[in-house]
Amino acid sequence: MLKGRHLVEPGDLSLGEMEGLFTLAEKIETEDDYLRESCRGKLLAALFFEPSTRTRLSFEAAMMRLGGSCLGFAEPGSSSAVKGESLADTVRMASSYADVIVMRSPKEGAALLASRYSAVPVINAGDGGHHHPTQTLTDLLTIRRLRRSIGGLNVGFCGDLKFGRTVHSLAKALSRYPDMRMVFISPEELRIPDYIGGGILGKAGVPYTETGDLEKVIGGLDVLYMTRVQRERFFNEEDYIRLKDSYILNTEKMALAKKDMIVLHPLPRVNEIAVEVDDDPRAAYFKQAKYGMFVRMALLASVLGITGVGGSLC
Ligand code: CP
Repeated sequence: MLKGRHLVEPGDLSLGEMEGLFTLAEKIETEDDYLRESCRGKLLAALFFEPSTRTRLSFEAAMMRLGGSCLGFAEPGSSSAVKGESLADTVRMASSYADVIVMRSPKEGAALLASRYSAVPVINAGDGGHHHPTQTLTDLLTIRRLRRSIGGLNVGFCGDLKFGRTVHSLAKALSRYPDMRMVFISPEELRIPDYIGGGILGKAGVPYTETGDLEKVIGGLDVLYMTRVQRERFFNEEDYIRLKDSYILNTEKMALAKKDMIVLHPLPRVNEIAVEVDDDPRAAYFKQAKYGMFVRMALLASVLGITGVGGSLC
């Protein structure tokens, strides 16, 4: 049961629980009225200390489609954080007004800290360069939908692998599925952290390689996960400008890829996928963003105890 549970990182869910959420998300997507109005009277507090389009709007849309309501702030400047209020006190307050908290912070570990002070479930919507578990649920659901199953795939991650929390969360989650291989494609300065590569993947026995050359490896990939270079996490604007266009996926590079490879991106994109690629049937990033709302509906209904994992009503 997910009722009352926090979601700080993907490892907080078992593979069975994730599978249950995917099944429920598909049911919500395909059965028009399923769970509609089931959260009437419930409140979601969205505490966003960092900008967001997809995560915040899809959570709010998810809650409203379930019949619940939302409150919160979209940037810290409109909260008492600017007066110096601690995260712990902010979360104590929000948890006395709402039934579930969704929060994003530039600080690694913020969601874990929040979960210790909250009387209601805390869902991590991104903590610095650390984790983004509901993006991972979105990514896994998209792979499951478009590749039919999650195991036995060669997944390439390309771009800012150092600061990209979506990459860290997804690589960790994929390492729990059978027969996975991974390729990390980045400039030297933005390599995948050791705690993911040698650490998590090493322990799980997942074979992986690192390269700076996308064109060399794209032909062997089943999934290509593109990411933007994260300007907001650089200390130095010159380094950002030097690295920002390291990879640009265009139709020439797509011509080297398998016919059934899928291209994912957590979005927002800047320059790393040329707009011309959007018309390629392998470009799945806008579908991916849409699936995010359904899996967030499934998650909210589950942590609020409306439905058990798999969709059976409690
Ligand atoms: N994928 C993602 O987290 O997008 P936003 O920053 O727009 O929420």
